[in-house]
Amino acid sequence: MSDIFHPEDFIIRQYAIPPGLHTLKLSAEAPSNIALVKYWGKKAEAEQIPMNPSVSFTLSRSKTTTQASLNLKKHPEKAPHLTFYLDGEHKPSFETKIRTFLERIRPYAPFVWDYDWVWHSHNTFPHGSGIASSASGFAALAGLIMQLEEKIFGIRNNAFRRAKTSFLARLGSGSAARSVAAPAMIWGRYAGVKTATDWYAVPLPFALHPDFEDVRDTIILFEQGQKAVSSTQGHRLIHNHPFKHERIQQAHRHMDGLLEALRTGDWDTFGRITEAEALMLHALMMTSEPYYILMRPETLGFIQSLWNWRLIWEEQQHERPPVYFSLDAGANVHLLYPGHWHTRVMEWLHATVPDIMSHNAYIADSVAKE
Ligand code: DP6
Repeated sequence: MSDIFHPEDFIIRQYAIPPGLHTLKLSAEAPSNIALVKYWGKKAEAEQIPMNPSVSFTLSRSKTTTQASLNLKKHPEKAPHLTFYLDGEHKPSFETKIRTFLERIRPYAPFVWDYDWVWHSHNTFPHGSGIASSASGFAALAGLIMQLEEKIFGIRNNAFRRAKTSFLARLGSGSAARSVAAPAMIWGRYAGVKTATDWYAVPLPFALHPDFEDVRDTIILFEQGQKAVSSTQGHRLIHNHPFKHERIQQAHRHMDGLLEALRTGDWDTFGRITEAEALMLHALMMTSEPYYILMRPETLGFIQSLWNWRLIWEEQQHERPPVYFSLDAGANVHLLYPGHWHTRVMEWLHATVPDIMSHNAYIADSVAKE
């Protein structure tokens, strides 16, 4: 069986819930991810199809764990009861999002509609911190649904399980498609990787260069609340964006350069493209109609300090610090660097953003190994 799947392969037309599966408890966990080449904009042709390919590092310590209790519905004709708790707190607004998700995945997982669900979810990082909780959250939900599918149909092979988990997660949140494996995932049709598809994310087709095997991501939290404009709203503004076509071409060029850098251990190119992508993401927001800004003065100040530090270090030590930033759709900064730079980066952070460091407003993460 080839490892390339089409939506048709995931459709379920017939099933019966076995007698032993009237009540059950399941648990799944999924990591978040940080995009290096960013997904920004969706195609209109189908649901949750990215305008351009993206690639991300999987964040091994920023995880969502979700437990589910399922009970076969007493009245099959009625809509399921959905109850969602985050850290013990009831979250009706999440239930609305999950209901939309369950509607989207219905052809591929119709059996979820036979149950009333109660979820208890926990993130290892603060909600709204700029870490994509929707990515790990929907990937964990997709993981639970695949577990249920395997209880009904028997164990699927690994390639199918991973692809379908990613496929389902994508229908919850695009970036969630990339939260199903480690250490790096590609999502979206892209000529450089034959298996890459819009329908689900795939692992890198090569091993990461050893210099990228121990990547750290230290996230500096300048803001920990709800964003003024959600990513879903931001994606919509790309439809009529004046830079749309150039952006698509650039993302493909950046995929070429970035994947080559990951394969050959080229931190300079990695850094140049990662930072260009972060700034382009925010440039697209600032030039949307209507325009908006999610960075804060602290974000820009921090980036300037980082660039200054790199220059001074290079002048004095004749070595360029392999320490680069990325941004998500928010004000927080991700610092990406190799593990052996950790102590120096921490010293610099303590000197540069002492308040953040003394209030522990940062998250130390590392990229997962497969
Ligand atoms: C800036 O995946 O949150 O993080 O598909 O509408 O749920 P929806 O959007 P979402 O967008 C994430 C955008 C990004 C870049 C990225 O992760 O690639």
